Amino acid sequence: MNPNKRSAVIAGNWKMNLTRPQAKALIEEIKPLVAGAACGVVLCVPYTDLETALSAAAGSNIKIGAQNCHWEESGAFTGEISPAMLTELGAEYVILGHSERRQYFGDTDETVNKRLLAALEAGLKVILCVGETLSQREEGKTREVLSRQATAALAGVTASQLSNIIVAYEPIWAIGTGKTATAAQAGEGNAVVRATVAALYGGEAAEALTIQYGGSMKASNAAELLAQPDVDGGLIGGASLKAADFAAIVQAASR
Ligand code: PGA
Repeated sequence: MNPNKRSAVIAGNWKMNLTRPQAKALIEEIKPLVAGAACGVVLCVPYTDLETALSAAAGSNIKIGAQNCHWEESGAFTGEISPAMLTELGAEYVILGHSERRQYFGDTDETVNKRLLAALEAGLKVILCVGETLSQREEGKTREVLSRQATAALAGVTASQLSNIIVAYEPIWAIGTGKTATAAQAGEGNAVVRATVAALYGGEAAEALTIQYGGSMKASNAAELLAQPDVDGGLIGGASLKAADFAAIVQAASR
């Protein structure tokens, strides 16, 4: 992280976990632990937890987000949620392009781009995920994949809209596997994303962009990952479900 150039953001990705009472209890536990944080704190929760999470986090420094949204404002899209539905609730963030959405639910570079444009248009801040599979890494295609995913997702995004985007580099082989990228690998991936954004929007815009690392980030490795100059925070899955673990990562990013 380079604190002279940008601020860190630690975001929890709860995935498909926690009922409303559990969500409320966890946020009540996290709140005092992160109250003095010198970084942004976001929790991206299941749709059904949004209202509960928003009221539990009200008046605190915790921002609330969703984990996906559709690109249309309304219509015959059974099971989908629109950006306007999220903003009406008061959600501020949405994760888009997570590898689990790409892998299990058919998200493509094209649909991620459509969701992202619609989310920005509705006033949401987007956490855009990019990342390579293990075989892509082994074939030496990491740069190409990250650059392609970021470029495709950002198609049609204006320079001023870029300030409402955080990119999360999440190597797929490190997600939920306990297999964290080394600090150097995380730093390299994030640097590829920044270079891609620099090519599209110029160096200044790229330097201002918050780029997180995600993939088995936890209390014990957060400080080392965050010490990389291009790692400006984290997108935290498993470790965001335990108050002490999540708070420790927030503390690491606040130093
Ligand atoms: P993990 O998940 O921290 O459990 O690896 C990260 C993510 O998928 O965003």
